[in-house]
Amino acid sequence: MGRTTSSSLLLTFTFIVSLSSLTCPSLSASTDAFVFGGCTQQKYVQDSPFESNLNSLLTSLVNSATYSSYNNYTIMGSSPQDVVYGLYQCRGDLSMPDCATCVARAVSQLGVLCAQTCGGALQLQGCYVKYDNTTFLGVEDKTVVLKKCGPSVGYDTDAMNLRDAVLGGLARTGGAYRVGGSGDVQGVAQCIGDLSTGECQDCLSEAIMRLKSDCGTADYGDMFLAKCYARYTTGGPHVYTKSHSADKSTSDGEKTFAIIIGLLAGVALLIIFLSFLRKVFGGNGK
Ligand SMILES: *[C@@H]1O[C@H](CO)[C@@H](O)[C@H](O)[C@H]1NC(C)=O
Ligand SMILES: *[C@@H]1O[C@H](CO)[C@@H](O)[C@H](O)[C@H]1NC(C)=O
Repeated sequence: MGRTTSSSLLLTFTFIVSLSSLTCPSLSASTDAFVFGGCTQQKYVQDSPFESNLNSLLTSLVNSATYSSYNNYTIMGSSPQDVVYGLYQCRGDLSMPDCATCVARAVSQLGVLCAQTCGGALQLQGCYVKYDNTTFLGVEDKTVVLKKCGPSVGYDTDAMNLRDAVLGGLARTGGAYRVGGSGDVQGVAQCIGDLSTGECQDCLSEAIMRLKSDCGTADYGDMFLAKCYARYTTGGPHVYTKSHSADKSTSDGEKTFAIIIGLLAGVALLIIFLSFLRKVFGGNGK
């Protein structure tokens, strides 16, 4: 009898462990997570030439993302007010299938967030998409779009020296996509592909300088400028998987499911424990 009890206990634990690994989102899933989005106030007329140009622009972006991590398009209309400009940029480490998935996701979220607006931009963890009826292609823009600093780690000079070293490394490394790390500190930087090498360097220098000055002793920092971003985390790679608002509906469902199963498993454990106690005390009574 004792053997049956312990094996069903083992079974319950295996079940709980496999469930928790199921509900823990994988790194690759996080590339679709929402970071920020914004739209212009001006709206276009429904069923207008502008709308059909915008649709062909967004289709071009999604198609292009299957073979290139950056591209830009300009869709000309019969009249100047129908012209629409757009681009996307995938994070440098994404494979082409992941880039395409990310851009498709961003485009579909843009359609909801920026319903019928003349311009819109959306940043997911793995990619960025922007369109507008005025051109912004090839124009360096260091406007702060999103600044996020984590909680302060206090005056941990070692951690902050390491952070500054990693950020310094990012500033010195060439290229549109840069990663660096030391100990628990990780950093990542990305330019949008329409910037020249010099503009990218200038944009990233600004983002990194702002991270250091604005995020002081924060345990992570995100600095998204209009054409480039730099981010760091001092607590391992968790920060790039932090926000899952894009997957909210599914993860909420998963959470509810996990809670119910957890409760059931708890009840099962209690029953097993109680019957075990009864057997022990029953045995003693004889
Ligand atoms: C962009 O669209 C808005 C709203 O339709 C319009 O007011 C503005 O003039 C357009 N800009 C250009 C450059 O066409
Ligand atoms: C836009 O794309 C065209 C064609 O791929 C390319 O020649 C041009 O340099 C790009 N412009 C910018 C600003 O990236």
